[in-house]
Parts: sequence; structure tokens; C-alpha cells
Amino acid sequence: IPVPTFDYVVFGATGDLTKRKLIPALYHRFLDGQFDDECRIIGVSRSKLSDADFQAAARDAVIQFVEKDYQDEKVIDRFVKIFSYVAVDVSKPEEAGDLGKKLREDPKVVRAFYLAVAPDLFEPIAEYLAKKKYYRRDARVVIEKPLGHDLLSSMEINDGVAKIFKEDQVYRIDHYLGKETVQNLLALRFANTLFEPIWNSAHIDHVQLTVAESVGAGTRGYYDESGALRDMIQNHMLQLLCLVAMEPPASDDANALRDEKLKVLRALKPIVNGDVAKNTVRGQYKGVKSETTAVAGYQDELPEDKKGSRTETFVALKAEVENWRWAGVPFYFRTGKRMANRVSEICIQFKPIPHSMFDHAEGAPKANKLIIRLQPDEGVKLMMMIKDPGPGGMRLREVPLNLSFAQTFSERTPEAYERLLLDVIRGSQTLFMRRDELEEAWTWVDPIREAWDRSSEPPQSYVAGTWGPSGAIALIERDGRTWYEDD
Ligand code: BG6
Repeated sequence: IPVPTFDYVVFGATGDLTKRKLIPALYHRFLDGQFDDECRIIGVSRSKLSDADFQAAARDAVIQFVEKDYQDEKVIDRFVKIFSYVAVDVSKPEEAGDLGKKLREDPKVVRAFYLAVAPDLFEPIAEYLAKKKYYRRDARVVIEKPLGHDLLSSMEINDGVAKIFKEDQVYRIDHYLGKETVQNLLALRFANTLFEPIWNSAHIDHVQLTVAESVGAGTRGYYDESGALRDMIQNHMLQLLCLVAMEPPASDDANALRDEKLKVLRALKPIVNGDVAKNTVRGQYKGVKSETTAVAGYQDELPEDKKGSRTETFVALKAEVENWRWAGVPFYFRTGKRMANRVSEICIQFKPIPHSMFDHAEGAPKANKLIIRLQPDEGVKLMMMIKDPGPGGMRLREVPLNLSFAQTFSERTPEAYERLLLDVIRGSQTLFMRRDELEEAWTWVDPIREAWDRSSEPPQSYVAGTWGPSGAIALIERDGRTWYEDD
């Protein structure tokens, strides 16, 4: 369904995010006919570029970051024509180009400002927009992490934006919410009758959330200030937890859904004091060298002045959601860089059968597991017990009931930004974080971070290309459980 005509103003137009994510995502939507040549993408940054320069940069971004199969010369020619550019330095408004000339006053044209810039510029940009009268009550503003490094700094950022924009105009991106498979969690839970009755502590033993990356962190400049807790747990993984653990929202209205997510965050048991050492593990990868491979350690990748950094590149932790549905069900989180594989998945481990009748069978019944694979090889797998075929008596075997998206659907899976960028135009905030959610997530994460900062213990080291430090294995094995690994 095509979206209304828009003027999308992208601040930070010459940056990496615009080039790698925003332009390719918009191209795909244009290619699919979801918006037409009437729409405008107006790049803004401090550099003095012409419209033609920016159109050339947009073309380069498509050529470099869109899969070759989808590059259509004619479509690219039309696509770049909707790009134009204005040089603005908000600290020198007197020298700024005239953004006003490019914006259409027609109230039917949706006006959106994407701030692909550092958060300390959000407030000055918002004020600039208001001063120049580019702000409209129905305009939208899109912002993205890092939205602070703790609760206070995140509140400051939100306050800065809120000086001008009301909450219903603010679209805070967590790109995980734009992933197809993450949205599929909603369909799985709430478009089927099968799971919801057993989605609770009476039937579920525990839940595991894994987001493992095989890439390293060292070349990403910001990472050392952030670390895995802020970079992945505070946002993406807590959002995943919310979708797994929330009560069924009454509708797909943005606030109906976000109210339920917020309740999960509020029900998280704080991990404080002695529990931090008990229930969390942080790690940092070290390099490996063999005859065939050499992978640098985190420390090796850091510039001289950062050497000795104790930033964690891995976190495992055990969380609890203290409410009726989840009492006593641990949620184990695990995320890291330079791990054995790139895999993001959620494993719902059901309880064992209450009684086994199979006294004389070969193989004991194993408890069911539901594995939701977010990436790569997206799919849903239910591990269940069957009788091994054959005349030789009862032999029990665990097999997967397997739904692979690649095998089932031939369509290309859209990237998260494709969905999110156009949801802004549609005016749908369902897949965006509300301010209170963000702040609640910081409230839970901050004491963990503070306890780590106070501790004299450095992060445990783990060898690049493994599943993390031994402490992560101990964290779950102590409870008589193991991390799920696909064989
Ligand atoms: C980003 C983090 O938000 O998510 C990165 O800052 C991380 O460190 C990335 O690599 C992971 O996203 P994806 O979509 O590749 O799982």
C-alpha cells in the first residue's frame, strides 16, 4: 500500500547511517512502488554540496549497498531525482541554506525530520526547526541510539527533543523492532491459539535469548564507550524480552502495545548489589593465532590511548520478570562480539512431562523447546518427541517441526529500516520505543553497569570465535540448565 506523499528531511545526510541504511532502504521501497516521484528526500548537513552532488552520493549508496539483483538503472535514475540538498550548520543559522524553500506547505504532504546525527545535536536542531518555522504540529522526528549512556543522560536527550516535539511526534528507532522475524513474534504469540495457554510459568521452565555476532567491535569507534550492556541489552534484547513476556495487547494501537511492554520492564527484578556478581557475567575477547588463522583481540584493535579498556564485548545475565505469568521462570540473556557464530535466537524451554509411561523404551522423553530464529536462516522450530520409525520396539527420538522462512516464502525479506522509515510516514508508532520504555530500560541496566564500574574485577576473557567466557556457562549450569545450541 503506497504511503502518502512526503518531505523526508535527513540531517546527517553525508554520514554512514544515511549511506548504508537509509538510502538503500528507501530505494527498495521506491522500487516496490510504495512511494512515487512526488516524494522528496532532502539531505541536510554542514558540508557545502549541491543537489547534484547529493544525488550522486545517493546513486553511489544504492550501487554500493543494494544487492545487485535489485539495481535497476531506470529506477535508480528516477529515485535520485527525488533527492535534493541544503547546507545547514545549526550553530551558524545566519549562514544556513534555505530549507524552507524545499519544504512544501501543503498539509497533505507528510513532513518528517530524520536526525541521523549525534544526540547532542538533537536539541539544537529541534530548536532551529522551531525558530525557522519548519516545525509543524503534525511533523515527525526520528531519532536513534545512542539515546544516552544512562538514565539521566537519556532523560536530558528526551527533554531536549520534547522542548519542541510532543511524544506522539517522536519516533525512537530500535531497529530490532523492524526486523521481520521480531514482528513475527507477535504473530506467533497472538495470531495462534496454540501457544498462549501454555505461555507461562506452569509450562515454561526458562527462556534463553541469544544475540551472538561473529564480527569484532574494535573498529567501531563508539563501542568502547558503550560496551555490550548498553549497546545490545539495554535496547534490542530488552525489547525482545518484552515481546516474549508481555500480556496480549488489546489492539495493535501503538500505545496498547507499548503499555504492555512497559509493564514487563517494570516487572523486571532489579539486579543490584551482590546479585550483580551472581547473575551477570561480562567478557572481553582475546585474540587467537594458529597456523591457519589470526584474529585480533579487543585490546589489539584499540588505539593506544584506549589500551587497557575494561569495556565488555560480551554479557550473559539471568533476569526475572516478577509477575503472575512468569514467577520463577528465569530469562537467560547472552550477547557478544567475536562469538562462534552469528546467530540471534530465542529458545523457549518447556517443562518436562509430569510422568513418563515409557519404562521400556529406548531414550527418555526430552522436554519440548520452541526455537525462534531471528537471523540468519529465519524460522521457527518446535523440538518434539516421536517414535523412531521401525519394528524394533519403542525408541524415542527428538525431532524438529521446522518452519524455515527461506524454504516457505520466496519473497525477499525486507530490512528493518524499510519498514520503520515508512511507518514514520504512515504515522504508526507501534514499532518505536516510547520515552517511558527507554527510561525504564535504563533504570534496570544502570545498577548493573555501576556495580561493574565499582568492581575491581576485570571482564573475563574469552577466546575470539567461542561462545564466551567460562563464567557464562557456569551461570546457567549452576541452575542445572545448558545454553541451547543448534546441532
Ligand atoms: C547495533 C549495535 O545496534 O546492532 C551493533 O550498535 C550491532 O554493535 C548491531 O552490531 C547488530 O544488529 P544486527 O541487525 O546486525 O543484528
